[in-house]
Amino acid sequence: MPVKILKMNTNIDKDNLNSPRQPKIFNQSEVFIEGWYWVLPSQSLGVGEVKSVNIFGKDLIVYRGKDRRAVILDAYCPHIGANLAEGKVEGNELRCVLHRWKFDGEGICVDVPVLDEPVPVKAKTWPAAEQYGIIWIWTGETPQQPLPFILDWENQTLDFALGSQFSIDCHPHVILLQGIDTQQINLANKLPFKLVLEKQELNQNAIRFSGITNINGQSFWLKFYRRLFKSSLSYSVCYWYGTTSIVSLGNEFSHLHLMFTTRTLSGGKTQGQTLLMVKKQRNILGNLINILMLWVGKIMSDRLLKANSRILQTMQFDLKTPIKADLSIMQFINHLERQKPLNWKIWSLWRSRERKEEVREEREKREKWRDELVND
Ligand code: FES
Repeated sequence: MPVKILKMNTNIDKDNLNSPRQPKIFNQSEVFIEGWYWVLPSQSLGVGEVKSVNIFGKDLIVYRGKDRRAVILDAYCPHIGANLAEGKVEGNELRCVLHRWKFDGEGICVDVPVLDEPVPVKAKTWPAAEQYGIIWIWTGETPQQPLPFILDWENQTLDFALGSQFSIDCHPHVILLQGIDTQQINLANKLPFKLVLEKQELNQNAIRFSGITNINGQSFWLKFYRRLFKSSLSYSVCYWYGTTSIVSLGNEFSHLHLMFTTRTLSGGKTQGQTLLMVKKQRNILGNLINILMLWVGKIMSDRLLKANSRILQTMQFDLKTPIKADLSIMQFINHLERQKPLNWKIWSLWRSRERKEEVREEREKREKWRDELVND
């Protein structure tokens, strides 16, 4: 990918601070990255219920059958297009309201009332999963990555609580990068510690920024945090598909994780859900501490969202003058630019002229290889 080198000021390490000035994925409203995205809180879909949702411009329905599994389908019936959200759940299957064709959990037509045999047709289904009290969808044919998880905590049992749902007139990428904007964290929030973050790419779709710092200061909240986390604080932000971030705060004894999971609405606005997580405790005191931690997490996540919402809704993000302190932001942008972009609404691979060229070259190479194989 061609990358323009920005005009630098003297405080800049030129080897590290290259940033795409015309990003193709970052902060773009017409594309999104193939991945896992939140659909609904699990509790909002009871057995026998059907709900309609719009994810990245696509109309979908999600229903829960007797087996309690959440099934996600394209919204419009493959017969003549009635909205399946009007349909009725029967056992583990869904019956369309109009001509009463019935589809199973794989989308296969299993009954047509006016025929002896069902029609060999399939409603389009999408991979679905449930975790942390949320229903998730993979926006491609087969999941290529696990659901967002907390690094080093994969095998821990967690207590979790849903936080707030939010919508902000700003792209999710710009909202979520606030978690690694160390200038802003260090200055605007008047925090009595200095954050320096290091990046770690977990896989093609996940990147983590982390650092350890000391907490000073005498305000009520700082004293409270200090009691909770002792004197040193480990801070990390892990991003999945650029749209789910998990902010982890803690020390060697306890950690609090704030998940902000988002998706883009029309025009690049954000709709999101917060989720709070802590390690499960096995005794009464531990349970009470967890309830307190989750409550603190809810307050913190709401405060974080509220803190800059006005600024975010009026800014026009353009990193024209990066300095060293913006390194994490640029690493985040570069990480996003290497992922698989899909078109808004049709969910097909997004191809620019350059990408078409790449595909053409790949095809030519493959054909040449096949020719050589045949000629041998
Ligand atoms: S439109 Fe659904 S069965 Fe006819």
